[in-house]
Amino acid sequence: MSTRRPLRAALTVVAIASFVMAGFATYAAIAYMRALDDTTGELPFDTPLRVPPLHTGRVDADGVRVVDLELRTGTSQLLPGVETPTWGVNGGHLGPTVRARRGETVRMEVTNRLPETTTLHWHGMSLPAVADGGPHAPIRPGATWSPTWVIDQPAASLWYHPHPHGRTTEHVQRGVVGMFIVDDDVADALALPDTYGVDDVPVIVQDVRVDSGGTLDLGSPMFSSLGPLGDQLLVNGTHAPYFDVTTTIVRLRLLNASPGRIHDFGFDDDRSFDLIATDGGLLDAPYVLDRILLSPGERAEIVVAVAPGESTVLRSTPPRLGIGGFEARFSGLHDRFDVLELRAASELAASAPVPERLVEWDAPDPGASVGTHVFALQGRSRINGRRMDMDRIDHVARVGTTEIWEVRNDSGTIHNIHVHEVQFRVLDIDGASPPPELRGPKDTVLLPPRSSARLVLRFGEHADPSTPYMVHCHILRHEDDGMMAQFTVVE
Ligand code: C2O
Ligand code: CU
Ligand code: CU
Repeated sequence: MSTRRPLRAALTVVAIASFVMAGFATYAAIAYMRALDDTTGELPFDTPLRVPPLHTGRVDADGVRVVDLELRTGTSQLLPGVETPTWGVNGGHLGPTVRARRGETVRMEVTNRLPETTTLHWHGMSLPAVADGGPHAPIRPGATWSPTWVIDQPAASLWYHPHPHGRTTEHVQRGVVGMFIVDDDVADALALPDTYGVDDVPVIVQDVRVDSGGTLDLGSPMFSSLGPLGDQLLVNGTHAPYFDVTTTIVRLRLLNASPGRIHDFGFDDDRSFDLIATDGGLLDAPYVLDRILLSPGERAEIVVAVAPGESTVLRSTPPRLGIGGFEARFSGLHDRFDVLELRAASELAASAPVPERLVEWDAPDPGASVGTHVFALQGRSRINGRRMDMDRIDHVARVGTTEIWEVRNDSGTIHNIHVHEVQFRVLDIDGASPPPELRGPKDTVLLPPRSSARLVLRFGEHADPSTPYMVHCHILRHEDDGMMAQFTVVE
């Protein structure tokens, strides 16, 4: 007896352990299978693409362009036949496309009619820190915030979204998102498609999960390392949209406004397109690509040619990041989605060909750097070993100077890095010179696990020792969990 009792106990432990492990394995296998989303070939494309209204505001007696933006609650048909409670700007879901010109002074009149405090940030904009709309600029319910600045950067497709610390994911998921187009004379002089809503179209892509009752699921799927991942895509808030193309080429301003999903955009027939602009504006020349990878927050402008009467479908395809196994599966990297059907009319108005040269970018010069600083992303919530602290300034830069930032992903999870106030130049990625889509002005760049990049940043003239700008991972769950740091720019 005395020798058999421990044996029996050991056998019981082994039996329970195998039972638990078998249970877990089954559970993990089911979760693995259910983690795959694929909508390709399944969508009816029966809804015309919603195009956000243009909103240029009014010019007051002092020549200031004043733009009223009211953050509101509402409802929207995100998926056919169901009403979903959403948030929006000047409407129930998403916001208008704000448009202003380089050289203009603008003033945003942002009124918060939402039930909680939020902020509104102008992503990609170079502007004084007090106007940036980061976590230090809360707008309480009922209050109006009126930031003003001079638009002083090249033509670009920027965007706006809330940035309250710890709450950004949810506020973006609920729909407080819009595009902000900056125009300038240089871009106007180029023969590029520029008739808004006709041959120049915003394509704001978000993934959502809506339950059968119509409620937005704001949570993250099991094992997701990127936070919320939706199982349906919306373009400008439209599910399964089509767009009627009436010209031989069409310009799409792609914005990945998903909270955590990486999109590798391409067409179902693998047709190529011209990449003409990245986050901060036009490239030196168009680059012919057949895929464009955008992590959350990134933009790309592409020009696509169509033939009369044909149709082609923009897709989000599995990103080729060299990440396999569970990490890839549970981060949505095996998923495929149809995004938007382009339907060409049987007769198309002839567009001018895409110019062979675009703009001369006055890129930051690494030779002018006054210092190199490391930002190491660790786990899912830390930069250089620390979580975001609203009361700690992590870095101080001087106006008008150039710095090199070595940004490193030390973790096994995908991250990206977004820097407020500047458009940086990617000097290299893992020591290699950047691909075409990373050669232009950028404010956000993807960092696959264990990768690193060197960025060259030139700070502008907006000095403010007391209000910081943010640098953070734009996978919003990571940002909210603390993967964000603060820097000031001083005299
Ligand atoms: Cu798109 Cu710090 O933001
Ligand atoms: Cu930003
Ligand atoms: Cu991250």
